[in-house]
Amino acid sequence: MVIAADVSNRSLADLYSLAGRVAVVTGGGRGIGVAIASRLAEAGAAVAVADIDESTAEHTTAKLTAGGATAMPVTMDVTSPRSTRAAVEAIRAELGEIDILVNNAGLLAVPAPYDEILDEDFDRTMAVNVRGALNVSRVVAPLMVAAERRGVIINMASTATYRYPNPGTLVYTTSKQAVNAITKGLAVELGPAGIRVLDIAPTVVETPGLADLRERSRAKAAEAGRTVELGNPDAFRHLPLGRIAVPDDIARVVAFAASDAAILMTGSTLAVDAGSMVVR
Ligand SMILES: NC(=O)c1ccc[n+]([C@@H]2O[C@H](COP(=O)([O-])OP(=O)(O)OC[C@H]3O[C@@H](n4cnc5c(N)ncnc54)[C@H](O)[C@@H]3O)[C@@H](O)[C@H]2O)c1
Repeated sequence: MVIAADVSNRSLADLYSLAGRVAVVTGGGRGIGVAIASRLAEAGAAVAVADIDESTAEHTTAKLTAGGATAMPVTMDVTSPRSTRAAVEAIRAELGEIDILVNNAGLLAVPAPYDEILDEDFDRTMAVNVRGALNVSRVVAPLMVAAERRGVIINMASTATYRYPNPGTLVYTTSKQAVNAITKGLAVELGPAGIRVLDIAPTVVETPGLADLRERSRAKAAEAGRTVELGNPDAFRHLPLGRIAVPDDIARVVAFAASDAAILMTGSTLAVDAGSMVVR
């Protein structure tokens, strides 16, 4: 059994450094994933930008390498074990063994009342958000164990992990509470091998995915003769910290969670929520 090191004697700069580590960020092509890839690279990690959309993965990689980082794009569909295995082999061949996995790829489901949920929306959301996170972890974690890397897996949950945010969010909420269960399960099973597993719970984050969701939700509500307002930045003024999140708010916390500064943290959820949990 691997026991977590006591790092009291190391400097903060050394603990926060990810120099010499290899990180994989799924969904790294756009939104929160781009910010995570950027901060991990800034901390010194070599970063594989994994996305189902090859062109956006290449775009993020170009941004990182232009800043002097080591990075590579890789096409990966997190729902497919075959695609994931091929991508992971390509990453190991180019960058070496993986130390940090960020399961960030996810879909934002269009809100629907419980009796209007479409099976295909439910299945697709679960496939990407839940099975995707488990699938990539199942490919990467055994390699971390075999390489005796004290790896870190970080899953992207949501404040929906803690509560039921709004009527109509049953599918998304179910998926993110399941992600939280995966985090806890993997933390227990992989802790003895020295692997930490955490999840991050962001409040609403301004991303291209959110912009798409607003559009799709408006169109769906209009069809049903309803109106819907989703992620209106003004609605966040009542929060203790007064604003909606931007991707970098989340990325800085991922960089901390991935670092040795968090060496005794596993199985827990780091909320990045502007204080929303305490006022709602
Ligand atoms: N934006 C928010 O308000 C918010 C809040 C809390 C949590 N989150 C979570 O953060 C993560 C990122 O969200 P975002 O807003 O940046 O989304 P986004 O839609 O802007 O970006 C998601 C990325 O994931 C990729 N992706 C989708 N399916 C994939 C698959 N099968 N395999 C590989 N890549 C795939 C997309 O191509 C895209 O590049 C998601 O897990 C989301 O649930 C978002």
